[in-house]
Amino acid sequence: MSTPRTRFAVAAAAALVLAAPLAIKTADAATTQTTAGPDSVAAPAAASFTPAEILAGVQANMTTAKKVNSKPHINTMTRAQNVNVYQVATGVYAYSSGMAIDTDGSDSDPDPDHQGETTWSDSNGQALGAHRVPFYVLGDDCWDRTSPCPHFFFKERGMTGRQFALMFYNGKVIGSIFGDTQTANSQTTSDNDSRELGEASVKAAQLLGIPSSGTTGGVDNGVTVVMFSGSSWVVNGSNANLNTNTQALVQKALDSLGTSMGTPTTPPTTPPGGTVVEAETGTLSAGGTFDSNHLGFTGTGFANPANAVGGYIDIPVTATAAGTKTLTFRYADGTTVARPATISVNGTSRGTLNFPTTANWDTWSTASISVPLTAGTNTIRVTGTTAVGAANIDSVTIS
Ligand code: GCU
Repeated sequence: MSTPRTRFAVAAAAALVLAAPLAIKTADAATTQTTAGPDSVAAPAAASFTPAEILAGVQANMTTAKKVNSKPHINTMTRAQNVNVYQVATGVYAYSSGMAIDTDGSDSDPDPDHQGETTWSDSNGQALGAHRVPFYVLGDDCWDRTSPCPHFFFKERGMTGRQFALMFYNGKVIGSIFGDTQTANSQTTSDNDSRELGEASVKAAQLLGIPSSGTTGGVDNGVTVVMFSGSSWVVNGSNANLNTNTQALVQKALDSLGTSMGTPTTPPTTPPGGTVVEAETGTLSAGGTFDSNHLGFTGTGFANPANAVGGYIDIPVTATAAGTKTLTFRYADGTTVARPATISVNGTSRGTLNFPTTANWDTWSTASISVPLTAGTNTIRVTGTTAVGAANIDSVTIS
């Protein structure tokens, strides 16, 4: 059970019996087919949606007509009774609230409210580890003890433990699973109650850039959680790999929801006469990854080259004829120092670009260099010259 906020803790809490023990190749490998419940959203179509497009689509669907609760929920952080849940697509439920930090489960934590149990466990029966698994918290019962529940109640919505959700905050999106529950109505000595919405694990906070201390962390508002009901959205795995398995479902969830909501995709902007080549068509040196956890990229993601001197990405670029061309790299550097990188074509260095900082990892800028290309396929290599490696690279435009 979750007791997130020291500032609201009651002395009698110790008297409570806090019961309730509680990169894969294909997304389906992380899911189970066994639990009954209504399946949500259609299989993903070919369209690839960005987090920004989906968040905008979700917000557009958070309308009175789509509200599923008739009495308001409580923002776990601020205590304001102003949180509602909306069905934004078939079987997909969204709310916006703050985030209080849950430290419970099998990872130790200095939080005096820390408890060893979470309501749901990993596939091996272990309590979830709040420092390793990004999980969210829902009410343990229906506060009003009536059916249908006037609040959003997971048991009425085809949801169970480890049910997948997207979490959006401050330009980021992560995957998260249903991991713990808010103290039930019957536990009257607790300051918490099951109408609260807006709590998640240390790991979820860390991934979203939210202060993650169980005693001083959290954020009052601005977190949007989009929960996917149905057995195909239950994530399996151990504490060691549940985070990886969950993040592996993010793009599938974005695409399923985009298709289901009829969200328009924004075509990438192409400079006049230019050809855009996405970085994700390239190859990274060891330690680099192709990611999609920041907003504003084009295509299906961006390259995150290794944080090392000499870490590189190779991007194949085709020219119809030999000649001098301008390469314009779309990149982000959310740190406070530039990330200079040498640019080589087919193994020959053609100079260094500075890649100055951008406002954050969701803000993209461009850096250009003129280089000779040969007819046919050319390999453009961007090699970081400092210990932090090259910037995140979204695409290169040839003009
Ligand atoms: C962060 C950021 C990554 C980035 C990395 C870096 O982890 O989320 O996208 O690549 O920093 O410093 O290179």
